[in-house]
Amino acid sequence: MSENHIPTLPVNPQSVILAPSMISADWSRAREVTDELKAAGCQWLHFDAMDGHFVPNLTLGPMFLEALRSHSDLHFDAHLMISNPSDYLDGFLKAGANSISVHIEGNPHIHRLVSRIRDGGAMAGVVLNPGTPVSALEAVLPHVDYVLVMSVNPGFSGQKFLPLALHKLEQLCEWREKLGLQFRLQIDGGMSVETAPLAVKAGAEILVSASFPFVPGRTLDESVRSLRAAIASG
Ligand code: DX5
Ligand code: ZN
Repeated sequence: MSENHIPTLPVNPQSVILAPSMISADWSRAREVTDELKAAGCQWLHFDAMDGHFVPNLTLGPMFLEALRSHSDLHFDAHLMISNPSDYLDGFLKAGANSISVHIEGNPHIHRLVSRIRDGGAMAGVVLNPGTPVSALEAVLPHVDYVLVMSVNPGFSGQKFLPLALHKLEQLCEWREKLGLQFRLQIDGGMSVETAPLAVKAGAEILVSASFPFVPGRTLDESVRSLRAAIASG
């Protein structure tokens, strides 16, 4: 990577937030899993809401967050991969989501969506699919708390990391500095000990990961430690 590609606001590896996605957890042990993740040092829990329309998979709704909310003080982060997020924002807010992200794709009234999220007391995020250029976000960037750059096409865990996400992170870092904005950068898809350090170097501050932490044969604590060690050693 050339000098030109080094982000202007480098991320301190110590401050990177790990946000495991409950999509790959054993849901019959959801409460224990949240406890184990907290003990392992994770600050955020990611909830992938899929409706079978926006993406070809069906997962969870606000009731799942609500069931865990009284049990956990972790930051609950909802990623809405649904065709009509407007109809469900109140549900996720009431369920206790601390942050909610909505896709730029298929949402022509994106400012209205992110305003409603903020007015509801949560952080608002906008999500970019691998096939969508960063330029699609230009008008909404001043109005969001974070940008989620997808490094897989959404719908399933366990997919291969798409390196094109790295350049998007770098571009967003540059824009953030140029425009004097404060949004955080999140990445989602294919995170591992190989890809996580690349994402952090490119500017990612919040890493979402499902199949890596929840792989059979390794404890959550071991997974989190190895990701942290990989990020720290770059
Ligand atoms: C993809 C979801 C991701 C996904 C991550 O549609 O938004 O959160 O489950 O899974 P891994 O980490 O296995 O790529
Ligand atoms: Zn996600």
